[in-house]
Amino acid sequence: MRLAVIGAGSIGLAIAWRAAQRGAETTVYDPEPGAGASRVAAGMLAAVTEAQFGEEALLPFMAASADAWPAFAADLERASGIRVGYRDLPTLFVGLEDADRAEVQRQIDIYRSTERNYETVNGRASRKIEPLLSHRTRGGVLVPGDHAVDPRAVHTALLTAAQRAGVAFQGETVEDLESLDADRVVLAAGCGSSRFGLPIRPVRGAVLRLLAQAGQPVPRTTVRGYVQGHPVYIVTRESGEVVIGATSDERGFDRLTGTAGAAHDLLRRAISLVPEIAEYHLDEVTVGFRPAAPDNLPLIGRTDERTIAATGHYRHGIALIPATAESVTALATGEDDTVPKAFDPLRFEESP
Ligand code: GLY
Repeated sequence: MRLAVIGAGSIGLAIAWRAAQRGAETTVYDPEPGAGASRVAAGMLAAVTEAQFGEEALLPFMAASADAWPAFAADLERASGIRVGYRDLPTLFVGLEDADRAEVQRQIDIYRSTERNYETVNGRASRKIEPLLSHRTRGGVLVPGDHAVDPRAVHTALLTAAQRAGVAFQGETVEDLESLDADRVVLAAGCGSSRFGLPIRPVRGAVLRLLAQAGQPVPRTTVRGYVQGHPVYIVTRESGEVVIGATSDERGFDRLTGTAGAAHDLLRRAISLVPEIAEYHLDEVTVGFRPAAPDNLPLIGRTDERTIAATGHYRHGIALIPATAESVTALATGEDDTVPKAFDPLRFEESP
């Protein structure tokens, strides 16, 4: 079976790698592998703290993917020889002020429906778990199973693993799917999927990368919080990299406007929660575009006999890599269709 994958972001590469492992003759098309959201993302694998009201249909898929991540990461590291920075530190989601603490509390209904572990903690307990939290911090929720991975390392490892598995790469922009010499086509072009008629919009996010110097203390949990009504998250890697994210707005593909303001807002919120962050070196300000469908659920499944969509992962692209790769590879290689019906890519088409 000859498989063409459009898009060398981490979703496309993971599908290509898994399909090649199952014997598919696979070619990936992308003029700039990794130029989309994959290398901007912070890498939270947050089946609980990324659960959103209105996206309940996603929760079992998120949970399955979170549970698949440790084995997926180990397999990817073996196949590529590259460490992907999977860390099983817990996530602490706190409010800075009473109103922020109340905002965290409001999320608990949706956390409950994930059927995963979490525990409410008061301010004192949260500072005991994470000593770098500001003494002003109110309590929140401790989520032991919301972990993180390094998305840049994952992307690099997937490129290597795919190449080693025999995947071919073509550096061209595909405009016409009919022209591809393939039995099956997977559309995994993130925001670029809209050029094939899929209803995907870009949701802009600014993300900061800071570096703690040797000897500087770093958070020992992933810290998420509300600060005066606004969200922020702080993800720490073993290397001392500290990632702060993310803004969320919809202004098309505008990478520049307002970036200084976004960086200021994120730093102010992060430093309010973890004052030590003011001492780190600010290394990078990046902007990425989350690919989102009208209902914010992914588009995964057949669009016709030959074509399978694997896009629209919105805020969850990194978290959903293993589950998407598994279910799309199964579809592409003629195995069972295990994709939730709620992700049907044709669900927005008007019935005749
Ligand atoms: N998953 C975090 C974000 O999209 O900002």
